[in-house]
Amino acid sequence: MRRVVIAGNWKMHKTQAESLEFLQSFLPLLENTAEDREVILCAPFTDLSVMSKNLHGTRVRLGSQNVHWEESGAFTGEIAPSMLTEVGVTYAVVGHSERRQYFGETDETVNFRARAAQKAGLKPILCVGESKQQRDAGETEAVITQQLKADLVGIDLSGLVIAYEPIWAIGTGDTCDSKEANRVIGLIRSQLSSADVPIQYGGSVKTANIDEIMAQPEIDGALVGGASLDAEGFARIVNYQ
Ligand code: G3P
Repeated sequence: MRRVVIAGNWKMHKTQAESLEFLQSFLPLLENTAEDREVILCAPFTDLSVMSKNLHGTRVRLGSQNVHWEESGAFTGEIAPSMLTEVGVTYAVVGHSERRQYFGETDETVNFRARAAQKAGLKPILCVGESKQQRDAGETEAVITQQLKADLVGIDLSGLVIAYEPIWAIGTGDTCDSKEANRVIGLIRSQLSSADVPIQYGGSVKTANIDEIMAQPEIDGALVGGASLDAEGFARIVNYQ
């Protein structure tokens, strides 16, 4: 049985005060959420510590949006795995396309980060996905196959979540057709040696399309950007039908 994993990726949004305000509205809305749904909030680094205190005893797990592969050193602007586990972080997003596109992340560094996360006891949420240009050129399968091959070297699949995020669907309102997302996620699954890895869809997920997305047999959850910023909206997504 694969787990259902719904994660909000706040990206560079929400101060500490705003994160606490969110939790105040959000947590009561999870009272009737099905037991088997894992709920994660991937918040900015500065929010993690205070959120961790406020999430104690709740079902919500915390995620970071990045993690470095070294435990310490001269890496300005980076964060070490143990700095995250110390404040109660459980998950770490690695390889998000915004990191790949704007911050020079490569499959090699994504793999370093994922491996270091696992070594420290963090669960990576590994993002893969093709650009519009690659999709239009019919390269979706090849791009994803290559990303998986490189990103998963030395990774323990039992502690992994994968997010399929077609880049052209991120923040554009242009959601990937749910059947097409299901097809690509099936393709990703066929390349893994374990059938149990939860695979999420990400890219313009919202209250209006979550039910249809989650009705697809290969899709085990969602990685939600913009629509996770609003407590009521994200709760509606978590409580999909
Ligand atoms: O990681 C989530 C993501 O990139 C999708 O963002 O705003 O399209 O839901 P959004």
